Amino acid sequence: MKKYFKKDEWNIVEEGFHPDENRIYESVMSLGNGHMGIRGNFEERFTGDGLQGTYIAGVYYPDKTKVGWWKNGYPEYFAKVLNAANFIGIDLIIDDEVIDLAKTKVKSFKRILNMKNGYLKRKFTITTSSNKEFNVEVVRFLSIVDTELAAISYKITPINCNASITFTPYLDGDICNEDSNYNEKFWLELQKNVEKYNANLTMKTKKLNFIASTSMKWCIHEENIPINSSISVLENEKFVGNKISVSAEENKSITLYKYISVTTNRDYDDEDIVNKANERVKYAYEKGFESLFKEHASAWETRWNNNDIVIKGDVEAQQGIRFNIFHLYQTYNGMDSRLNIGPKGFTGEKYGGSTYWDTEAYCLPFYLSTANHQIAKNLLIYRYNHLEKAKENAQKLGLKGALYPMVTMNGEECHNEWEITFEEIHRNAAISYAIYNYVKYTGDKKYLADYGFEVLTEISRFWASRVTFNPYKNKYMILGVTGPNEYENNVNNNWYTNTMASWNLEYTFDVIFYLQKEHPTRFYELTDKLNLSDPEMCKWKDIIDKMYYPHIDSLDVFEQQDGYMDKEQLSVKDLSETDLPLNQNWSWDKILRSCFIKQADVLQGLFFLNDRFDLETKKRNFDFYEPKTVHESSLSPCLYSIIASEIGYIDKAYELYLRTSRLDLDNYNNDTEDGLHITSMAGTWMSIVYGFGGMRIKDDMLSLNPCIPNVWSKYSFRINFRGHLIKVSVENNIVAIEQQNGSEFNVNIYGENYTIPSKGEITVYKR
Ligand code: BGC
Repeated sequence: MKKYFKKDEWNIVEEGFHPDENRIYESVMSLGNGHMGIRGNFEERFTGDGLQGTYIAGVYYPDKTKVGWWKNGYPEYFAKVLNAANFIGIDLIIDDEVIDLAKTKVKSFKRILNMKNGYLKRKFTITTSSNKEFNVEVVRFLSIVDTELAAISYKITPINCNASITFTPYLDGDICNEDSNYNEKFWLELQKNVEKYNANLTMKTKKLNFIASTSMKWCIHEENIPINSSISVLENEKFVGNKISVSAEENKSITLYKYISVTTNRDYDDEDIVNKANERVKYAYEKGFESLFKEHASAWETRWNNNDIVIKGDVEAQQGIRFNIFHLYQTYNGMDSRLNIGPKGFTGEKYGGSTYWDTEAYCLPFYLSTANHQIAKNLLIYRYNHLEKAKENAQKLGLKGALYPMVTMNGEECHNEWEITFEEIHRNAAISYAIYNYVKYTGDKKYLADYGFEVLTEISRFWASRVTFNPYKNKYMILGVTGPNEYENNVNNNWYTNTMASWNLEYTFDVIFYLQKEHPTRFYELTDKLNLSDPEMCKWKDIIDKMYYPHIDSLDVFEQQDGYMDKEQLSVKDLSETDLPLNQNWSWDKILRSCFIKQADVLQGLFFLNDRFDLETKKRNFDFYEPKTVHESSLSPCLYSIIASEIGYIDKAYELYLRTSRLDLDNYNNDTEDGLHITSMAGTWMSIVYGFGGMRIKDDMLSLNPCIPNVWSKYSFRINFRGHLIKVSVENNIVAIEQQNGSEFNVNIYGENYTIPSKGEITVYKR
């Protein structure tokens, strides 16, 4: 497998210039701070292939749906993550030559993403047509302390000459999403202002009237001392800039500092946002690059101190997990409860929307364990706030209760492939599962009375209206679905969907019993509000009792769906290298007819409902399904890795761990250029903490069952469990738990209970 990056524990380093693979490097080198993000684009001109991508959280565009054959029930629009004004641009002219990295001779080149302190650095040497050589060093960061701010330091040093250098720092709002359905530009210019040293460009989106105001300010130094320069202002449609000319002497560096602020009307009134952008950029400028950077870097260090996973003896594995944690926190920090975690975060345009079932099924556990519990709660409340829209969505499809969207920005469904929009209904169970998971982890049962029960009831109603009763078999069926494995469409009785639907109804009953006992007044208030009747609950009970589950009796494994065994049973090993990835090499009908599995499906159920299945059952199902799985969804290898750890297949778990943690770094599925797989990064974290660490919550208690891959000499992770901040370290046969914050509490390790003192540590030997 081709390796794109050097092995390094804290840095992602591109060594040498790779214009032909630039999109891959741009994705990997993306920066973000929860409020905004930018791909690893160049500041100076580059007319080669790339995707200039700047994204602002929560700012989207409802692009009119485009499909070949319109089906009733399709949403009117697909929400696009909006590519916004490019604020990093700094054009460079040396003597009279425009520097364009696609054309200018690049002698040496290094692009470094520093994860420890959260910045992107480029160091390169260019030679002009008159053989003048220059060293360039560019550093940029998006502050995680002041998330509306970004800063760039652009340093150029003539090596063998004197030269006249012209910088043009600019803001460019003339941006078009690459995935625009009708090549339409989504931004209109609202206002702009440019003078020497400052500029502001304020753009407004069509249709939804989002306003984003971007301001810049700059200063220029020679060898750290401010210098005078000749300045002119530039102004075009959707464009503002300054042109700054200086004389540069051999071996004396010239540095341009560019400060940027981005404000939106999501946070301020329309009439205030330009002033706010100007105020914020002035603040950044006055604070200066070094001070802004220092506080940003130290905030990253604090983050790492709380959430790092350390792996000894395996640099690639270490680099992989840090890369995943880094990008997750760049994308979502939970500070704004209106936001969610898009599959590509701020790193690309594919997928659109910001919320998939990925959030509940994969991301929630990460935020539950690594952040204040309020953040996970915010993710649940986000769905609670969309309940009315989910009810409308079910109604549109002629069903009852609530069907949460497969893809959304505001609660409305915007996915428009029938097999997903109408059929991938298992997503609803993930929303219920997240409630169960949150309550189990935090112990916050009050959430059920305050919010959870309403959501569970409406989702239960959906299942009750979506099942079909087969009187000949005396069983309930769920027909015409797509399970998590999207390489099967319109199947009957996907085992995972049926299992989760029935589990969902059971859990709703558990909550009913709990509320009746512990919060009777609230319970009766809610049953009134929801119009919940005995006959309705009797129907739910009947569905639980008579749900049909496909099963392969001869092998004693769950059958992914009715008819799965009619397919020719092959294994991935039977495929040639040119077949993979299937979705780029096979026609869709061939994929659908094959037995190959895109992502965890039966295994997703084994993971979620973990304590319902014994190890032998997990083993049999893993042995059957794993050889047929191509893992062409990023959400897959992490889940398989967790189960592999649990059933003692440590080498396999390790192989799958590397695949999940280095999915983008090693471009496993040949799609890193589209952007990174942000949501599956939380799955990578789970493959260590739930997989190798064997973490579960059992009977209200934290339980660990750690194992360690052969190649690692030690690993450790930190989690927050109900106010106890603990560090778990695992060596060959030794597990150490150190409580860094919190009072005495009990933990189950390898099946035995231990008490961890406040600020104390215990060591357990595996027997
Ligand atoms: C997966 C879905 C997932 C989506 C976004 C698809 O490839 O099959 O399960 O929700 O990507 O990550």
